[in-house]
Amino acid sequence: MRKNIVAGNWKMNKTLQEGLELAKGLDAALKGKSLNCDVIIGTPFIHLASVAAAIDTKVIAVAAENCADKESGAYTGEVSAAMVKSTGAEYVILGHSERRSYYGETYEILKEKVQLALANNLKPIFCIGEVKEEREANKQNEVVKAQLEGSVFNLSAEDFSKLVIAYEPVWAIGTGLTATPEQAQEIHAFIRSLIADKYGKEVADNTTILYGGSCNAKNAKGLFSNPDIDGGLIGGASLKVDDFCAIIDAF
Ligand code: PGA
Repeated sequence: MRKNIVAGNWKMNKTLQEGLELAKGLDAALKGKSLNCDVIIGTPFIHLASVAAAIDTKVIAVAAENCADKESGAYTGEVSAAMVKSTGAEYVILGHSERRSYYGETYEILKEKVQLALANNLKPIFCIGEVKEEREANKQNEVVKAQLEGSVFNLSAEDFSKLVIAYEPVWAIGTGLTATPEQAQEIHAFIRSLIADKYGKEVADNTTILYGGSCNAKNAKGLFSNPDIDGGLIGGASLKVDDFCAIIDAF
């Protein structure tokens, strides 16, 4: 059966020292607790190795927030999937709407990144979701379908099974607007049906689909109690130990 996951996405926040303090605080808070979900923290590249060394990665797995779409070589400033893997990270967040919109990441670029991540034994947390205008035009289903078809439905069933999908309506990210549990459940069920059509029911049933977008301690329980919502990808509320732990406690 699929895993429940609460994953943090620090985005471009925290110096190395602040990040280490946050990671260690979380590690201490979760030590010895019996958890009903897996916990992941997504950090900037510069934190990965130090964070992975400072915490128990069997309790808290580490994710990068991006990786390069090229294997290695003359790409100044880029960080490859192999480099990410070598830090001790287990996951990589790919296709976040901020990467798509501010850094021009196309379906094709993301397809390359997903393949390189998998080739380097990193598990992609692949983000999809519509913008406000698309939701208003009731086009959210078309949008997530195109995003899956454009970047991950080329994978074999075996490779697709290594992915975590994160549905993040762009209008809910960092805005304080959250999709209602009904809206989220409806599209999560749709996403699972697309996976079932492509890979069969077993793969679909085993795929973890996270919700992201202003998820916090107050609304987490209402969201996570739906059958097709298997946890959350948490931005703002992952930056403080207590806020993040309260979301983990929702399971
Ligand atoms: P938020 O971000 O929780 O701050 O809305 C979620 C995300 O972008 O992953």
